[in-house]
Amino acid sequence: MKYYITTPIYYVNDSPHIGHAYTTIAADVLARWRRLCGHEVFFLTGTDEHGAKICQAAEKATKSPKEFCDIICGQFQAAWKALNITNDYFVRTTDEYHIVAVQKVMQKLFENGAISKGKYEGLYCVHCEKFLAGGDLVDGCCPDHKQKPTPHSEENYFFKLPMYQEKLLAILSDENHPQHIRILPKERRNEILGKLKLGLEDISISRANLPWGVPLPFDKTQTAYVWVDALINYISAIGYGEESPKFKKLWPADAHLMAKDILWFHAIIWPAMLMAAELPLPKKVFAHGFFTINGDKMSKTLGNVISPAQMVEKYGVDGARYLMLSLFPFGSDGNISWEGLNEKFNTDLANNLGNLVSRTLTMIEKYFGGKIPKPTTPFCALNPHKTIIIEDFNNYLDNLQFHLAFDAIQRHINNANQYIETSAPWKMAKENNPELATVLWNLISMIKTSAICLLPVMPQTCNKIWQMVGETHDIEKESNAFFTQGILASPVPGTEIKKANPLFPRILAAQ
Ligand code: MSP
Repeated sequence: MKYYITTPIYYVNDSPHIGHAYTTIAADVLARWRRLCGHEVFFLTGTDEHGAKICQAAEKATKSPKEFCDIICGQFQAAWKALNITNDYFVRTTDEYHIVAVQKVMQKLFENGAISKGKYEGLYCVHCEKFLAGGDLVDGCCPDHKQKPTPHSEENYFFKLPMYQEKLLAILSDENHPQHIRILPKERRNEILGKLKLGLEDISISRANLPWGVPLPFDKTQTAYVWVDALINYISAIGYGEESPKFKKLWPADAHLMAKDILWFHAIIWPAMLMAAELPLPKKVFAHGFFTINGDKMSKTLGNVISPAQMVEKYGVDGARYLMLSLFPFGSDGNISWEGLNEKFNTDLANNLGNLVSRTLTMIEKYFGGKIPKPTTPFCALNPHKTIIIEDFNNYLDNLQFHLAFDAIQRHINNANQYIETSAPWKMAKENNPELATVLWNLISMIKTSAICLLPVMPQTCNKIWQMVGETHDIEKESNAFFTQGILASPVPGTEIKKANPLFPRILAAQ
């Protein structure tokens, strides 16, 4: 089964921040999890490099647009590497194959009668790279960037969006429609449908005086509007064209991920463009919320950003990945603070997971000379819990409810810690109770389940735990058997455990 997942392609007007990392890590966790479930995954991310905003940023940095794009694009690539992102491809809109694909799509739209020429007059927010209607403004400013949009008037080509209104309504609202696109979360789908019902207008899809873009094939004096150019990345990167086996295999996308700010482009404009180009439509579009700082969207324009490197420095790669996805529901906005991050790190990672591993291994060392003991009862006392957790976990991830998925595992870990308290192995050891072996064997079994479930979000840590509990075979193989057949190999008595430094040293309040 194939699974094609995408992130937005990020503007290269400035360095990556944790807002970008949020979407990318989420896509990475889903990609890793689907791979473990045996799917053939293609995970795409990249950079959006044309348009007025990039041109202005390059000018400010006294670089040519391409030089500037190369620098910032390199920063995005380095950030994803540092965060252990496993994208299968990285698309850049300045790549030649992409430019060719944009021209091919534009030509197709033109020939299919979806494009006409006209005059555009309106207010343009260069930071959003979009026209804003009067009703969108707050105190005369763009609500996201808090800056005044500029008046804009020129001859452009227009995409006849209203032609697709009825079909879009049917596709988005009817779950049984053969081309149905699932927009999640539901509330955002309702917002989109509400706006769609109000009616659509032709949209300007070219620029007359912006050379930093893809020239239209039918009028080389104009370049493609940066959003039209950008959306096409989802098909250009997989070899758009009937002759391409890769394209045939992968398209349509199974999931487009993004924040709510750009849902309209993905839920309305992109599907309409695909219809005009006679291509199948994506299956799922998920819009998550914003990371906010004191209630404002974190953005380069507002200058209130936290960089992925800052998070990694403080919490490690896995800590940063885990915290970003577990702090609040993926669909909602969430206010970020260092205090909140520290607290979650200490509670979930240092105290719960870290302690369970460290206590269990210490006891095995102390009571059984560092070897996993043979249980007297041949089954895990906590087995029923285990199966419920796996089912919940898979369902939650399937619906992109990361925080619930991780909460389920944290509960499992917490049960294990409680089990230590209630069974009191130190007493059992004093009393020479043979059940001590069963308790410790059970704990190793629970640690193994936790490591497997957390593998997509904390790959390095889970590999390390795997080695600590003495496993020598590949965790990914066992994880695959676990996710596809529900099989988790039991700990083998006699296996030597390997104690190591604490997985997650506690963060002190002042740090
Ligand atoms: N280039 C367009 C996207 C084109 S996709 C065909 C763009 N780029 S962007 O650099 O502004 O990135 C927007 C995306 O970055 C959001 O949709 C979201 O995925 C992520 N985020 C940027 N800031 C964010 C927050 N403050 N919080 C959460 N996600 C954020 O729009």
